[in-house]
Amino acid sequence: MSAPEGTRRSSGGFEEERIILPTVALCSSGDAGDIRVLEELFSSVRWGSGVIERELAEPGLGVLYLGARLSRRLAGYAVLRADSDRLHLLNLVVDERYRRRGIASSLLLGAFELGGYLGCSNIRLVTQATNSGAIALYEELGFSNVTSRGRYYRDGSDGIEMERSLKDEAQWWKEANASGRRRFFS
Ligand SMILES: CC(C)(COP(=O)(O)OP(=O)(O)OC[C@H]1O[C@@H](n2cnc3c(N)ncnc32)[C@H](O)[C@@H]1OP(=O)(O)O)[C@@H](O)C(=O)NCCC(=O)NCCS
Repeated sequence: MSAPEGTRRSSGGFEEERIILPTVALCSSGDAGDIRVLEELFSSVRWGSGVIERELAEPGLGVLYLGARLSRRLAGYAVLRADSDRLHLLNLVVDERYRRRGIASSLLLGAFELGGYLGCSNIRLVTQATNSGAIALYEELGFSNVTSRGRYYRDGSDGIEMERSLKDEAQWWKEANASGRRRFFS
């Protein structure tokens, strides 16, 4: 799921400015330190001590981390868990210095592809009802509200549960596998 670097095309031709698109890939144990740094600095929820390290080291726990890197720097990550035919987005965090550059969108597009590959028919998440930026992002990428979760968070604030279909992505993988097309994930 890596994307090429390139130059921005304007109506007058190519501009000098270089656009560097993030590389999105599944994380492994070696990424735990970088993820922990972003969590401590930029996430409103904290995984307990050693949880990230354990989840990365033990794939059997079923928690997947997608990381978005700009050059080699981890700019954001998404935490996912597949549960029968549903993919749950458990957390999504982008380094403040790299926001509004499409990092979270790239991670979510990667998550949709991964969910389709795993045969999930939808992806769900809960976000704080007051997190208007995140809600705008999710709506932009096709999520819609499913239900409200009153006092869902520890501080007593409300959550909103949102869902997006992954049927198109799942169908794509089904056809790709049937025709022997190359897989991104192995
Ligand atoms: C929410 C968050 C993940 C967005 O990351 P991001 O990389 O900046 O998002 P993107 O650049 O992909 O945004 C894509 C679109 O979503 C919408 N969007 C994203 N952040 C927004 C904000 N703060 N306010 C309004 N709209 C926003 C916009 O439509 C944006 O497109 P635009 O920049 O062309 O206007 C990031 O702000 C973050 O890490 N916040 C703290 C943690 C958090 O709240 N995570 C969500 C947990 S459920």
